[in-house]
Amino acid sequence: RTVYVNGEYLPENEAKISIFDRAFLMADGVYEVTSVLDGKLIDFEGHRVRLERSLRELDMPKPEAFDDLLEIHRELVRINDIEEGMIYLQITRGAPDDRDFVFPDPETTPATLVLFTQNKPGLANNPTAQKGIKVISIEDARWGRRDIKTVQLLYPSMGKMMAKKAGADDAWMVQDGFVTEGTSNNAYFIKGNTIVTRALSNDILHGITRAAVLRFAAEAQMQVEERNFTIEEAKQADEAFITSASTFVMPVVDIDGTAIGTGKPGNRALRLREIYLEESR
Ligand code: PDD
Repeated sequence: RTVYVNGEYLPENEAKISIFDRAFLMADGVYEVTSVLDGKLIDFEGHRVRLERSLRELDMPKPEAFDDLLEIHRELVRINDIEEGMIYLQITRGAPDDRDFVFPDPETTPATLVLFTQNKPGLANNPTAQKGIKVISIEDARWGRRDIKTVQLLYPSMGKMMAKKAGADDAWMVQDGFVTEGTSNNAYFIKGNTIVTRALSNDILHGITRAAVLRFAAEAQMQVEERNFTIEEAKQADEAFITSASTFVMPVVDIDGTAIGTGKPGNRALRLREIYLEESR
């Protein structure tokens, strides 16, 4: 595939990043994942705005090509002929001459910008949505600024492995007794006609899919409550689901070995998935 690195479109095996890059040495980088359906970007503007915020919160310089990001996304989709899949974008604080905890001067160390595509035919018709996924609960041991989309993904990655080891698909993280979010997605349950999900704060990523799904809730004749909830409350729910740019709306059918509702994907979650896929294309 052809990837983008600092102004150049290159075959992936010719793309190079310095060993002194701040993201490699210190996880000093931010990222976005934008999905592609029918060859078109889903919610690009939402991702762009969140990316700009991540940079601002970390005092990280914008790459020179920041204003061309839409064009670069579209060009990569075109070159790599992506019908369904994702585009991964990463910005780092660049590569200074040496390892140093102090931020480098942006005048002499420009940001690194990398983008690549992930071809995922069948992403919209993912058969997993008809089966649902199983989650386990784990402690949320991440840092305190989860609203910034940084590449510090070691704990979420470990969480996914804990889930796999337990025969589940993913993990919901719990802080002070309340669910924050999934390892790479936002977490919800449905009771009656109400969708419950944690309110926005520094404790969770402000999901772009979350914002869209909550906007579409009224269309599905549903109310929304943004508040803290426990694993116990979610276990008693009629339905549960997660959202992200790579899974859209994905039903959750089991939490810590307890079946949710009928133990099959719920009608409301599947309806929300349908609405999301229709409305955001
Ligand atoms: N993850 N919460 C976390 C911790 C995430 O990493 C993500 C996205 C989300 C959902 O956000 P959005 O709806 O904007 O994709 C919530 C991406 C998909 C990833 O890391 O691959």
